[in-house]
Amino acid sequence: MRIVHFSDPHAGGGAEDWMAYVDKRWVGVFNYKFRRQFRHDMTKLQRAVEYILDTRPDVAVCTGDLTSTGQPGEFEQVRPILKMLRDSSIPFFYLPGNHDCYVRRPKCVAAVRGMTEYLSRGDYKFTDLPLVRHCAGAEFLLLNCSRPSNLLCSWGFVDRRDAEFIRRRCLLPKEGPRILLSHYPMIEHHPILRMRHRLFGQEPILELMREKAIDLSLCGHVHKPYLEVDESGRGECCAGSVTRNGTMVEIDYSADRFTFRTVTL
Ligand SMILES: [Fe+2]
Ligand SMILES: [Fe+2]
Repeated sequence: MRIVHFSDPHAGGGAEDWMAYVDKRWVGVFNYKFRRQFRHDMTKLQRAVEYILDTRPDVAVCTGDLTSTGQPGEFEQVRPILKMLRDSSIPFFYLPGNHDCYVRRPKCVAAVRGMTEYLSRGDYKFTDLPLVRHCAGAEFLLLNCSRPSNLLCSWGFVDRRDAEFIRRRCLLPKEGPRILLSHYPMIEHHPILRMRHRLFGQEPILELMREKAIDLSLCGHVHKPYLEVDESGRGECCAGSVTRNGTMVEIDYSADRFTFRTVTL
């Protein structure tokens, strides 16, 4: 089984309404105007889609942060790029990132919900998460930890009910590798240092990873890619930002081992 995993393209632009200057979006817009737009190359996202269409993996995964502030116009920038993948027959899972769930403005909430349903080809809605999908002999646990947080933080949360859903699911015997898909890394070595960007409530998930009830966690959020796996490839893979690094990850699973390869775009 082969998975292609990319993350964090971060399309961005200006404020789309005057309320953006009063809610958290001004932070994201400022960040985009003065920093992000010079660092993120959207043509790399296009190349990622072309690569996936050319090589036809069993599954493609995007672990979120399509946008910078979750505004409808930002989602509309990535929609035409992802359309070919979305319209293909390649199974594709998208999990929202914290930047896709930036503020509670109804039009922004509608935009991330609309994009989730669009990219899942109507298979699942944002509000259906967490959920389980079987594909190419593997079991995928789709978990959303992203929601609006305060002005200066990009916190994620594993909801207690969601953790319980995952735990119950993991009580069932595995029929193949069990792979968690979420925007946030579950493994955090520097919770204090990374206080502004961290995830809360993931301890039950980490326990399941230690027990190997979950074989692999695929995530983004951290823009530099890294691997934290054992000799059988079990653990966590962060794809980093596809538009910042011009890379994504190709994962092979065979003979009960995961192997990882960086794809340079
Ligand atoms: Fe990000
Ligand atoms: Fe993020």
